[in-house]
Parts: sequence; C-alpha cells; structure tokens
Amino acid sequence: MSLQIIVGTQWGDEGKGRIVDWFASTSDVVARYNGGDNAGHSVTVGPKLFKLHLVPSGIIHPKPVAVLGNGMVINPKSLLDELDMLKNAGIDIGPQRLRISHAAHLITSGHQSLDKAQETARGKGNIGTTGRGIGPAYTDKATRRGLRVADMISPDFVENLGNHIDETNEQLSTLGAPLVNPLTVLNEFRLYREVMLPYIADTSLELYNAMNMGQRILAEGAQGTLLDIDHGTYPFVTSSSTVATGVFTGLGIGITAAQDAEVTGVCKAFQTRVGSGPFPTEVFDDLALRLRGTGANPWDEYGTTTGRARRVGWLDGVLLRYAVRINGLTELVITKLDILSGFEKLNLCVGYRQGDKTFSDLHFGPSNLEDYTPIYEEFPGWAEDLGAIRKWEDLPKAAKGYLDAIAKLAGVPVRMASVGPEREQMVENK
Ligand code: GDP
Ligand code: IMO
Ligand code: MG
Repeated sequence: MSLQIIVGTQWGDEGKGRIVDWFASTSDVVARYNGGDNAGHSVTVGPKLFKLHLVPSGIIHPKPVAVLGNGMVINPKSLLDELDMLKNAGIDIGPQRLRISHAAHLITSGHQSLDKAQETARGKGNIGTTGRGIGPAYTDKATRRGLRVADMISPDFVENLGNHIDETNEQLSTLGAPLVNPLTVLNEFRLYREVMLPYIADTSLELYNAMNMGQRILAEGAQGTLLDIDHGTYPFVTSSSTVATGVFTGLGIGITAAQDAEVTGVCKAFQTRVGSGPFPTEVFDDLALRLRGTGANPWDEYGTTTGRARRVGWLDGVLLRYAVRINGLTELVITKLDILSGFEKLNLCVGYRQGDKTFSDLHFGPSNLEDYTPIYEEFPGWAEDLGAIRKWEDLPKAAKGYLDAIAKLAGVPVRMASVGPEREQMVENK
C-alpha cells in the first residue's frame, strides 16, 4: 500500500499541478479530493501549457488512472470543456482512465449566479471568490439538498434539478439578481448526463482495490492549507477541506492508509494570494512587480482560473510551520526558486510581533493575522539564472542557504526545488 499526498502550504497556486505531474510518472492512480473548477493547475510540457481545473494533473502521463473524488464539486460544463481540450491534445480520456465518484456534488449555473450575487451583496467585505459556484454548491451539500453525480442516473433527476433551480431562483430574487432559466439548465444537463454516465464509479471502492493490489496512489490537493474551511484564514477561505486529512473523507480512503503516507507540502519560494484576506508579509509597488512579473511570462503571478493579479510577499515561515503541523508534512518541495534570482537580499519571515510579544508559531490559528507584524531574517540573494541547474550542488551557495533556512524553520527536509515551469526544471536534494 502506498499513498502520497500533495498539498499546498500557502493560499493556493504553489505549483501543485507541475509537482503532481512530476510524481505521476511513477503513480498508478492520481486522485483529486477537494474543490472544483476554482482550481487552476498548470503543467508545462515542452511547448504545451495545460491548465487543468477539474481533471487531476496526472492525466498528462499515459499510465495513471485519474479520479475525481467524492469531496469534489463538479461543474459538468467545465468538465466537458476540459475533456475536449485534453482529447484535442491527444490525451486518452476514456472511461477506463478517468473515474468520477458517484458521490461528488454537481455545480449548476444556478450555483454560479448565486456565488456572484452573494459576492456583490458582500460589497467591500467580499471574499474575492472565483465566481465558480463553489460556496453555494458546498452549502447545498451541507444542508442536504445538493445534487450528486449519481443523481444523474435517477429517473427523478429532472424533477430534482427543477426543484434546485426553483430554490436557487428564490435566493437570487431575494438578492435582486437575474434569475436562471430552468429550461436552459434542464437541456444542458441532458447532454452532460449522456457524456458523464460512462465515467461514474464507486471510486472509493476502486481506490480500495487498487491499494490492496499494492498500487501507488497520488492524492492531488487543490487550493492550499490557508484556504481550508476549518484551518485557513476564515472567513477568507474556500468551502472545502484542502488539508491532507481531507484526502480520507474526500476520497473515501480508510485512515490506516495514513500510516506510511508521504505528505508533500508544495511551497512557493515566496508568498502569494489571490482574493481578499490577511497577508502579513505582503509587499507593494516595485518589489511586488518584481515578484509578480508583468504578465509577459505564462508563469507570472496572474490567476490560472480568473486571470486576476495575485498579491505577493516574502515567504512566511510562521504560516509554513503551521502548514507542517496541520498537514503532518513529511517533506517540502520549493517552487519558483528561479524567480528570486537577481535580488540582492531576501527576507524570510521567521516570527510575528504583537506589541512587545514575539511568536514563532500561531497560537490562535491564522484568523487574526492582522494583529501581527512580521519579523524578518535577511538572507543574501544570488545573481545567477537557475533555469539550467539540475544538481543540488550546482545551486548558488546563497540559494542553498535560503533553502536550508526554510527546511530548518519548517522542521522537515526540502526534497527538491523547481527552477522553471518545465518538467525537467527540477533539482532533487540527493
Ligand atoms: P497550482 O494551482 O498550485 O497548480 O499552481 P498554478 O498552476 O496555478 O500556478 C503556478 C504557476 O507557476 C504556473 O504558471 C506554473 O507553470 C508556474 N511554475 C511552477 N513551478 C515553477 C517554477 O519553478 N518556476 C517558474 N518560473 N514557474 C513555475
Ligand atoms: P489552486 O488549486 C488560489 C481562493 C479565491 C478566494 C477564495 C474563495 O489553483 O491553488 P472560492 O471560489 O473557492 O469560493 O474562493 O479562495 N481560491 C484560490 N486561490 N488558488 C486556488 O486554487 C484557489 N481556489 C480558490 O481566490 O480568495
Ligand atoms: Mg492554481
């Protein structure tokens, strides 16, 4: 039995997609356990840039079976678009390679409209959601009136979908937002149902059988630790369990699989966030532009899903230590190290100050981050371009020093660092 969990240690967009792609070549199954098409996972393969929102990033490799787990919320329209994109790129997306949990929930255009109307109603206090209907779909799940993938098979589906649209329209009219046309939704779902039927499976059972056969399971997290519904910067979070323990409920895997699991935290060499909420190490102006990029490169810090400019800042070691604790990380992968080339000095946040008190760990979760001022340790930068480096010993001394400091602060080893978005732009620490 072998399980590896890939989880973001920050506010998402750490580069999970390309790291999943790296480990997928030696995996039998790659499974998403949370979220929906709010996620945007990029995988660069030569001239091709794949932007995946629902299908696990492991699909690019020919071998692994891709699973969309029960913890997900699935917008069938996005799924069909993504399947078309993959098919056109010559990737096998047949039902033997892609399995969709019968117990995952469905997102409709009603959920999307509601998400946007709720954000408008929040005004200045908005969360900055992706507008994909994620919150409303998980709300329906929690209030036990959601539509599940398996419901598409039921003879009552049309009636249930009709009821869902009626209920959503009631909420939309309370918010003064335009209503959704039930007939349009019903017609769209006829097509979705036809395409999705062959993929629907009891993925929990299939994963159980795969594990009993000794297969290697790679669990792909979406979003990041600090966006977790319980452990993130609430209320500025998403609506699912993004952390490593979400794997067990979100895939229907028994907890004993955790015993020998590798839990790999993907951490960007600096900090980013898209949407509202606290960000103690955020930087602005020229420094921000330097970290974010202008948008000229595909890897610059603009949202993969929404195109929004990401907020940027120095790496926050207090929040990283929190991610290590909450996820039980066994190792780290540091991404985008190449972006730090050319800085004369780098700041790493090693603690927080509040009045005359200092902390190296959060003692009240990450909700009241506004109350803290970061304490920085300064590190020398390096001038060299890292893009062509493949061996740890070839990294500049200052880059190794920065990585060592991260590992020491986190208390877990750095297994590798990426130095560009391409598959082979990876430096293993061995
Ligand atoms: P995810 O949501 O965690 O999968 O991350 P995204 O795909 O949303 O954002 C990460 C971005 O950084 C993508 O454009 C990646 O191609 C890019 N990227 C990942 N690793 C590296 C790296 O080491 N260097 C550079 N320059 N870009 C990277
Ligand atoms: P990946 O998987 C970065 C953020 C949104 C918003 C908050 C709630 O690519 O790392 P939601 O639409 O989920 O209700 O929005 O969560 N958010 C992400 N930020 N990367 C993501 O996914 C995100 N998914 C949601 O910006 O702040
Ligand atoms: Mg992303």
